[in-house]
Amino acid sequence: MASNNTPEEIPVSRLLLEEIELDLLIEGLYRTYDYDFRHYSRASLMRRILAMLQQENLDSISQLQALALHDVRWAKKLIRQITVTYTEMFRDPEVFLLLRNKVSPILASYPFLRIWHVGVATGEEVYTMAIMLSEIQQYRHAIIYATDINSESLQQAQEGIYPLGKIQQYTKNYLAAGGTEDFSKYYVARFGAAAFDASLKENITFALHNLITDSSFNVFNLILCRNVTIYFDEVLTKRVHEILYDSLELQGILVLGDKENLLGSPYADRYKSIDRNLSVYQKIA
Ligand SMILES: C[S@@+](CC[C@H](N)C(=O)[O-])C[C@H]1O[C@@H](n2cnc3c(N)ncnc32)[C@H](O)[C@@H]1O
Repeated sequence: MASNNTPEEIPVSRLLLEEIELDLLIEGLYRTYDYDFRHYSRASLMRRILAMLQQENLDSISQLQALALHDVRWAKKLIRQITVTYTEMFRDPEVFLLLRNKVSPILASYPFLRIWHVGVATGEEVYTMAIMLSEIQQYRHAIIYATDINSESLQQAQEGIYPLGKIQQYTKNYLAAGGTEDFSKYYVARFGAAAFDASLKENITFALHNLITDSSFNVFNLILCRNVTIYFDEVLTKRVHEILYDSLELQGILVLGDKENLLGSPYADRYKSIDRNLSVYQKIA
C-alpha cells in the first residue's frame, strides 16, 4: 500500500541517509570516471569519506558528490582518499627477513626471477625488494613489475624520493630485516628528502594495473600483494585471488599482508604455507 507520508514526515536517520548518499557517490564515480569502488569494503569506504568531509569542512556526502562529479580535481582528491596508499620501507621486517633467509634459496634456482608487487603505492616496498636482492646477489637476474591503480602514487614510486624524516624508521626496519650494509649508501640526502639510487630501479617496470578490470599479464616466481585486499569486500578479494593464482608459477611464492590470508581464495588448498603468521605461501598445485 502506498504511504501517504510527505517527505518531511518520513523519519530517515542520519546513518541511513549516509548509506544512501555513499551508494550514490560510488555509483557517480563509476559512471562519470570509470573508477569502480562498488566492491570496496563498505566500512572502510565510509570511514575514509567521513574523514574527508571533516578535513574539507563539508556538510554531507552529497556535497562531496556534487564537487567530485563536476570538478575532476575533487574527483582525484577523493580517489586518493579512497585508495589508501600508506606504506613503509621494510614494512614488517620479519617478512623480509624470511624472504632473505628462507625463500631466497628457492628463488636462486631460477635463471630469471620474475617478481610482481601488486598495489605498490608510493614504491617503498619495491625499493625494499631491490635492496634486499642486491645484497644477496639476486638483483641482476630479477625482472620486477610494480603496479597500482593510483597514477599519482605510481609517479612518486618511479621517482623514488622519500621524506628524510622517515629514514630513521626505515633504517631500523632495514636492520631488523637482516640488512648487512650501511643503509645510507642507498640514498642521497638533499633538501629534506632521500633520493634512492637510480641503479635500484634498473630492473623495475612501474605500470598502472587495476585489480577490478585488468587480468593477469605474466607469470611470476614471487608475488607480493600486501595490505591491498583488506580494503576490498569478499567478491573483489576472490577476484584478486584468481588473478594472483593465475599469475603465479607452480612452486611460486605469494606474500600477503599480516592481516590477510587465503580464506578469501577459491584456491586456498593449492598452496602450502611457508609461514602462516607472516602470510607467506607457496603454490603447490
Ligand atoms: C595500503 S597500500 C599497500 C602498499 C604496500 N603493498 C604495503 O603493504 O606497504 C594499498 C595500495 O593498493 C592500491 N589499490 C587499491 N585499489 C586497487 C585496485 N583496484 N587495483 C590496484 N591497486 C589498488 C592503492 O592505490 C594502494 O596504493
